[in-house]
Amino acid sequence: MRSTSEAPATEPQPVLSLADREAGGSDPTARLEGGSPGAVEVHDLGHSFGELGVIELLELSVSAGEVLGVVGPSGCGKSTLLELVGGLRAPVRGAIEVDGAGAANERLARCSYMPQRDLLLPWLTAIDNAALAPRNRGATRAEARRLAHPLFERFGLAGFERSRPSELSGGMRQRIAFLRTLLAGKPVLLLDEPFASLDAITRAEMQEWLAEALAAESHTAILVTHDVEEALYLSDRVAVLSPRPARLIAELRAPSPRALPRLDAVTSAGFTATRERALAALARGRR
Ligand SMILES: Nc1ncnc2c1ncn2[C@@H]1O[C@H](COP(=O)(O)OP(=O)(O)OP(=O)(O)O)[C@@H](O)[C@H]1O
Ligand SMILES: [Mg+2]
Repeated sequence: MRSTSEAPATEPQPVLSLADREAGGSDPTARLEGGSPGAVEVHDLGHSFGELGVIELLELSVSAGEVLGVVGPSGCGKSTLLELVGGLRAPVRGAIEVDGAGAANERLARCSYMPQRDLLLPWLTAIDNAALAPRNRGATRAEARRLAHPLFERFGLAGFERSRPSELSGGMRQRIAFLRTLLAGKPVLLLDEPFASLDAITRAEMQEWLAEALAAESHTAILVTHDVEEALYLSDRVAVLSPRPARLIAELRAPSPRALPRLDAVTSAGFTATRERALAALARGRR
């Protein structure tokens, strides 16, 4: 693993820059629906904004095809961690590898980032928002739409292809943002609080939907959330972070297979016990 002391690849920007940087070679339709999953290694990571220490001595490992949930209190450095992994920021210290690559621009090319807000482009239709990455890789509008179209059916969005974001519900917007992330075709998905802005019922529905989407295809993903239940339900393993500066204070294996219906999964004895352990770790971290 090499040191990551190089200059930042770019200032953090919406998903477009990260999802769309890779040229994709001569075939614009290559690797559009989830590249083969890659591992992520974070070693001795430290970051600060001026005097503000945000991440300290962080070690994380995500295997190819694994979903790692990351929970921690608000402001502890979760979004910053994703920006560092995705090559949008250069860490003050430490090393990060994504799919075997350590340089920021190489990590940028290997990660697809779904930011905390959906950041759909209001002047584009739903399908053109979803198909932004293939378009930016050189596909014609018709080609890009052809790639996105079948996913609208699968993601419960059929019939809304031509709607503008302002005509869609919050849950639909989040699904399109996720679809756009998926269509970037990168080995690693970085998902930052994908459902934070939704009401509890829609959020539970979206969690079930994402569990199915993650189970249907193999993806390496880092899923940031402050919701322990969401992290345990959607992930293979959950890393619990301390308040800022974020340190790893516990790692828990998620108890139930994601394929279970949500209510059955989250009410099982194993799930409840693991949730208690995660909450206890969070509470200990605050002291
Ligand atoms: N560009 C920046 N410049 C200066 N400080 C920043 C910057 N981005 C984040 N911070 C600070 O770093 C800390 C961590 O922020 P970050 O967004 O990573 O937290 P978070 O864990 O994602 O929080 P939340 O759960 O509320 O989304 C916060 O104190 C924030 O004020
Ligand atoms: Mg955040």
